[in-house]
Amino acid sequence: MKLFTAASAASVLAMTAGAAFAEPKAEVMHWWTSGGEAKSVAVLQEEFAARGGSWTDMPVAGGGGDAAMTALRARALSGNPPTAVQLKGPAIQEWYEEGVLADISDVAEAQGWADVLPAQLAEHMKCDGHWCAAPVNVHRVNWIWANADILESNGIEMPTTWEEFNAAAEKLKAAGVTPLAHGGQSWQDATVFETVVLGLGGPEFYQQALVDLDEEALTSDTMKQVFDEMRVLRGYVDDNFSGREWNLATAMVMNGEAAFQIMGDWAKGEFVAAGKVPGEDFLCAPTPGEGYLYNVDSFAMFEVEGEDAKEGQALLAELIVGPSFQETFNLNKGSIPVRTDVSLDKFDMCAQKSSEDMQADAQNGSLLPSYAHGMALRGAQAGAITDVVTAHFNSDMSSEEAVEQLAAAVANSM
Ligand code: GAL
Repeated sequence: MKLFTAASAASVLAMTAGAAFAEPKAEVMHWWTSGGEAKSVAVLQEEFAARGGSWTDMPVAGGGGDAAMTALRARALSGNPPTAVQLKGPAIQEWYEEGVLADISDVAEAQGWADVLPAQLAEHMKCDGHWCAAPVNVHRVNWIWANADILESNGIEMPTTWEEFNAAAEKLKAAGVTPLAHGGQSWQDATVFETVVLGLGGPEFYQQALVDLDEEALTSDTMKQVFDEMRVLRGYVDDNFSGREWNLATAMVMNGEAAFQIMGDWAKGEFVAAGKVPGEDFLCAPTPGEGYLYNVDSFAMFEVEGEDAKEGQALLAELIVGPSFQETFNLNKGSIPVRTDVSLDKFDMCAQKSSEDMQADAQNGSLLPSYAHGMALRGAQAGAITDVVTAHFNSDMSSEEAVEQLAAAVANSM
């Protein structure tokens, strides 16, 4: 028996198990191309390679993923979808309804996902009761980022109300500093808009307006005030904001060209990738008001032929939710692990705050899905809202006109 070496044992096993030993392969479509994002996705590539996987990268540049989703539709229509796709929120179920998503319940059950994922977030990963996506992280959307030196030298504290924010911005403007770094792309307008809806209206109003699409909420005085504030914020961005990518807006804050950015905590991934330290170089604080807007990145697997591709999908799913990946990836990405059993010891003060608030908001019913990042609504409804938000931001449309258009656009999208 001693002659029966490890190598021959492995080859006998390989022969008997046959295809189960195919080399795992994956073509992975994602939109993580900025500095912090690229560092983060590299963690997954490395772990995949370390387990013998071969990865074909399919990055589609463009923050927020609009371009990636267009590319996905083209690939899927031609009958040749990537094996794994960065996909999140109700878009997962929309693709499932097309009959093109693979069931990854085997991996999820073997790895005990149900025991380590918060129930509210796990629901997004289910299609007709089975697991159809693997969650990567929890990004908080409602954050303000600030250049610490600019605030200090102008005698400004991190604002805790929108009035304080406006007062700070006026002061900065008078001092010749661009108050708000912003990229004029519709998803970025939507990102700012939803934080104002939450901040001025409160969690219950956010739920009614942007999750339940309640017409009364959409046309309310509160919603008019939200558009009033959007108009005020429009006055705080620089002249070159149109079309700017979000990470270039983050760089403006980093380099002292602007004071604030309202953006999800992938912005922190940029600061950190550039060696900046929270609490010293930059500050983070939730946007004024109550509540937590979450944006959970996840990957869905498309039905594909071939044992190697299926092995690749299973391996990817296992790694993505695995504790080691969840820690390293999220340290780079700016988000927090979606697993509840990963220690946050190595994480910074912004991540600790995110985690504490998430738990408190989950208890209070104020842990809410981000509409701007595709967590709350189906594509048609979210798109209808964003069109109006962007049209308002880029014109002199009145708030009254905006709420009318908003209600009409939502009604037409149903
Ligand atoms: C979000 C995505 C984040 C981040 C951001 C900017 O939609 O969930 O992970 O990458 O877009 O690209």
